[in-house]
This record gives sequence, structure tokens and C-alpha cells, in this order.
Amino acid sequence: MKNCIIVTGGAGFIGSNFVLDWLAQSEDPVINLDKLSYAGNLENLASLQGDPRHVFVQGDIGDRALVDGLLAQHQPRAIVNFAAESHVDRSIHGPEAFVQNNIVGTFHLLEAVRAYWSGLEAPAKQAFRFLHVSTDEVYGSLGKEEPAFTEQHAHEPNSPYSASKAASDHLVRAWHHTYGLPVLTTNCSNNYGPYHFPEKLIPLVIVNALAGKPLPVYGDGQQIRDWLYVRDHCSAIRRVLEAGRLGETYNIGGWNEQANLTIVRMICGLLDQFQPRADGKPYQDQIAFVTDRPGHDRRYAIDARKIERELGWKPAETFDSGIAKTVQWYLTHQDWVAHVQSGAYRDWLSTQYGATSPAVLVTGAP
Ligand code: NAD
Ligand code: TYD
Repeated sequence: MKNCIIVTGGAGFIGSNFVLDWLAQSEDPVINLDKLSYAGNLENLASLQGDPRHVFVQGDIGDRALVDGLLAQHQPRAIVNFAAESHVDRSIHGPEAFVQNNIVGTFHLLEAVRAYWSGLEAPAKQAFRFLHVSTDEVYGSLGKEEPAFTEQHAHEPNSPYSASKAASDHLVRAWHHTYGLPVLTTNCSNNYGPYHFPEKLIPLVIVNALAGKPLPVYGDGQQIRDWLYVRDHCSAIRRVLEAGRLGETYNIGGWNEQANLTIVRMICGLLDQFQPRADGKPYQDQIAFVTDRPGHDRRYAIDARKIERELGWKPAETFDSGIAKTVQWYLTHQDWVAHVQSGAYRDWLSTQYGATSPAVLVTGAP
């Protein structure tokens, strides 16, 4: 397909936002390769039904024959690799899937892409890009006063998830240095927004609050994350794909550090305004402090000056505007929420939070 790109993991949270955003702004078709794990959801892409610019293929990035065939058939000008297992808590319960999908899967994808790229004619070969989507978690944890992560920060991953992402970043880097593969890597901070699977903090809190369930805050709730609205992440990836320097890494973030407890309280405040509880009490009453995550990273913060300086990218949303939009989105998409809360989702909640999910181990302020 002329000028098409292959997006992997395009039925997940960020990947589906990226595909929707891409096709809203470009005529270039998207081949969407996703294995549809528990986190992949074709409902996210329902608005593209019948659109010939979107071709969905269910499959694994580690399936060499399938990926070879897709590359040969569609002759893409770029690959954007979102496909990964992405939840830290799941990586603690079952790290093997993270090694398989994130490391071994990326290895097979790189090998397929290398073979395809090697055989391209000079102009197509020069224009080709492999963009690997990664996370700030590869840099490890920051102390309170330490400066934000720059691209020079060493990889010091602490969880099985971040270790698997760091390993995939290293493979991508090596395929550039050794084989000349034209790669770009982005390391982004925590995303939030529509289609976020409700196992992650922000959607979990919204969904539990509305269901009258406890809002589980790990440990003292003072861990810090640097939040970026998902569509801003998508615009940054588009910009890096368009103009990023080959072999470079770009950090993506919105300069928005917040403690978890602050986020939970903000969401409660917004729900108090948009959909007050029937009993008139504040949603904050549902906050429950629970046992901390093992090896919990204390603070992430992204220094996003390089992408701003070199590529002129800046986020469009503030946290206030983005979180209000997000809460509204969940309020108006209760069907989507109901559909993702399958049996498998309920099983996860009881694995992670206990049988009465979520188990309230400690209540009240720490
Ligand atoms: P997600 O878990 O919502 O979606 C991942 C998607 O990848 C799912 O649709 C899943 O079916 C698919 N997938 C997994 N393994 C696959 C495989 N082997 N082959 C094909 N498809 C596969 O994750 P997300 O939050 O959308 O994250 C997407 C990417 O962005 C990941 O690489 C993640 O590390 C990175 N990232 C996420 C965040 C965040 O805050 N969520 C921040 C920075 C970077
Ligand atoms: P999460 O959304 O899982 O993203 P990540 O671990 O990749 O940063 O978690 C965000 C923060 O919220 C993290 O510090 C863990 C914390 N958290 C809770 O306090 N309670 C929860 O139920 C969840 C899922 C996360």
C-alpha cells in the first residue's frame, strides 16, 4: 500500500489513540498488527470500521513468517512499535510474558525489518524508519531533589517490566550501530486519557469511584509520576518520525509531576462536580491505603528539552484540561468500561488486590 506504515500494538491504549490520531491527519494507510492480548481491544478502533486506510491484522510481532509476509505485501515506509506487555504489577506476578513479548518479540521484529530494509531500493531504503516506543521507567527511580531524566541518564530499570523495555531499547540501539537500521527511540512518561485500560491508576480510580468501590493507593501515596495526555504523546511520536535524527533517543514528557495521592484526590474532586455521589458524600471517602508495590519506584520525571529544542514539540494539554477531559470521557463511555470488565479483568483484580478486590489492608490517611 502506497506510503503505508505498520503500527504494532495498535489496539492497546496508546497504539489505538495513535492510529485514530494518525488517520485524522494523514491519508497514509495504517497496517495495525496486534495480537489482542487482554489489553488489546478492537472496540477502541470502532470508528474506523469500513475505512480502507486501516487494515487490522491479528498476530504477534514475534511471528517471523507473518511479519515477513506483511512487510513484503505492504512495503511500509515505517514501523511504529508499541506492542508490549505494559503493566508493572502484572510483571511482578508473571515476568515471563514480559521477556517473551517485549524482548524476544522486539528481537524477531527487528530481524524481520532488517531483512526487509536491506532489500529496499536506495530511495525507499533511505526514507525508511523504525520507531521504538519506550518508557521513562527504563531510567529507574529519582530522589526528591534529583534533576529530571535526560537522554544521557543511564538505564537503571527496577521492575521486570522496565527491565524488559530497557532490554528492547538496547536491542534497537544495537541494530542501528551494528547493521545501520534507521531507528528512532522515544522514552515517554506516564500517559493518561481515553481507552486507558482500568488496571492502571487513573482509569482504575475513576471506574472504582463510580462503582462505589475502594480507591487503592499503594503505600503512602507520595510516589511521583510525570503525566502526559495520550494525544500529546501521539503528536510527539509523529514529530519524531517526521524529523528525528537517526539513531537518537527522544524523551517525551509534559513537565507535570504529581504525587499519586494528589491525582486520586483531583479525580475525586472532578467526579464530585460532574457526577456527585447519591449520598452527597465526597468520593475521597473511598480512598484506601493498601500494601505497597514491591520495589516501587519513588519518582519519575522527564526532561523534555531535547525534543522541544530539536523538533519544536510541546504538549497541547495542561494536566487540568487533560484530566477533566479524561474523567468526562469515562463518564460518557460506560459501555466501553463495562465491556473491558470481563471475567479476565475480574480475575486480575482478585490476584492483585485480594478476593474482596481491592482488599483494604490499611484505611485512612497514612
Ligand atoms: P497496552 O498494554 O494498553 O497495549 C499494548 C498492546 O500491545 C495491546 O493491544 C496488546 O494486545 C499488544 N501486544 C502485546 N504484545 C504483543 C505482541 N507480542 N505482538 C503484537 N501485539 C502485542 O499498552 P500501552 O499503555 O498502550 O503502551 C504501548 C507502548 O507504549 C508500550 O510499548 C509501553 O511500554 C509504552 N509506554 C507506555 C506508557 C504508558 O503510560 N502507558 C508510557 C510510556 C511508554
Ligand atoms: P500505574 O498506572 O500502574 O503506572 P506505572 O506503575 O507504570 O507508573 O501506576 C501509577 C502509580 O500509581 C504508581 O506509582 C503505582 C500507583 N498505583 C496505586 O497507588 N494504586 C493502584 O491501584 C495502581 C494500579 C497504581
